[in-house]
Amino acid sequence: MAGNSFGQLFRITTFGESHGGAVGVVVDGCPPGIEITEEEIQVALDRRRPGQSKITTPRKESDKIHILSGYFEGKTTGTPILMMVLNEDAKPEDYLALKDLYRPSHADYTYEAKYGTRDWRGSGRASARETLARVAAGAIAQKYLSAIGGSASGGKHSGVEILSYVTQVGDIKAEVDFNAVKAEDIESNIIRCPDQKVAEKMIELVDEVRKDGDSIGGIIQGVIRNVPAGLGEPVFDKLNSDLGRAMLSINAVKGFDIGLGFRSVGMRGSEHNDPFYTDKNGNIHTKTNNAGGTIGGISNGETIHFRVVFKPVSTIRKEQETVKIGGEATKLEASGRHDPCVLPRAVPIVDAMSALVIMDHFLRNRAQNG
Ligand SMILES: Cc1cc2nc3c(=O)[nH]c(=O)nc-3n(C[C@H](O)[C@H](O)[C@H](O)COP(=O)(O)O)c2cc1C
Repeated sequence: MAGNSFGQLFRITTFGESHGGAVGVVVDGCPPGIEITEEEIQVALDRRRPGQSKITTPRKESDKIHILSGYFEGKTTGTPILMMVLNEDAKPEDYLALKDLYRPSHADYTYEAKYGTRDWRGSGRASARETLARVAAGAIAQKYLSAIGGSASGGKHSGVEILSYVTQVGDIKAEVDFNAVKAEDIESNIIRCPDQKVAEKMIELVDEVRKDGDSIGGIIQGVIRNVPAGLGEPVFDKLNSDLGRAMLSINAVKGFDIGLGFRSVGMRGSEHNDPFYTDKNGNIHTKTNNAGGTIGGISNGETIHFRVVFKPVSTIRKEQETVKIGGEATKLEASGRHDPCVLPRAVPIVDAMSALVIMDHFLRNRAQNG
């Protein structure tokens, strides 16, 4: 009921508040024998960590992962895995001024409307610090999926590859072929856009916005390669609807589309349909991939591609109108440490949510169909 868990067979439950003692995750249903080190999980967390560059929040957290259960001699054991990160640089006093008022477009008002109370220290559970737990669990899923080619797919696939990148910040867009993008191109700049020239312009824009005390949004492109055909359930648990739900559960996400998505609205069926063909190895493919890798809620073996829209986040250093808890009008000018643009830090979160959805559906498909 309370919605802190995600997934059916590969099921995660996250816990913790931004300025509480720790943030972490319990992963249940994880297959035994996955070889993974704390360092590999740490690499994923370091991509999400605050303070990683001049365009992210300066909060200083090492985000050091601790694996407390379900793991022995370098492998998962099949029992519940508990992983957590201790909060080191919590400064609740930064938020004292916000205690009795509602920040516009943040979750203060809705939490209070729901629970009659809220943890005002750094947004509590509404803080995107919660997402580090998803990234840790996603790293395990990604490790497993990267090795599932071969026999699991009848020899047709070579390990699921998951990546995502920033494709738009404000009005600045990168025209990038998602089929050609490599992980190292994404990591080669601090905004995580594989087009280096456009990346520089995006970084300049975020820096300008930061100096102006404002925030800015954008779009992340998600790509999932080598997914075997057959993942996803045909009605309520479609692969595309679960991906949409996963992405829309990330803080500050306001939109999701898959394949051509909203861009297909002006097209005719004759333009939008993906014609089938058989390749030289006898495998069925489509010549185009306007659908985005799923049809009827089930993966068709083509690359899954989708876009996730992030809003300009609400905490800005400009004066805004709001009200106090009792309803009295007041003005707010936030201080504290905030992200002027969350896109670069959200890239590993999108990767993690992709991994969690594909992992869950891989195990579900295997449970039903062998
Ligand atoms: C990586 C990441 C970092 C974020 N950092 C901030 C921040 O510094 N300040 C802020 O106001 N919101 C930040 N957010 C967004 C808020 O958590 C989010 O807007 C808030 O919980 C309200 O929820 P909603 O926008 O999804 O409706 C961040 C989101 C992500 C994904």
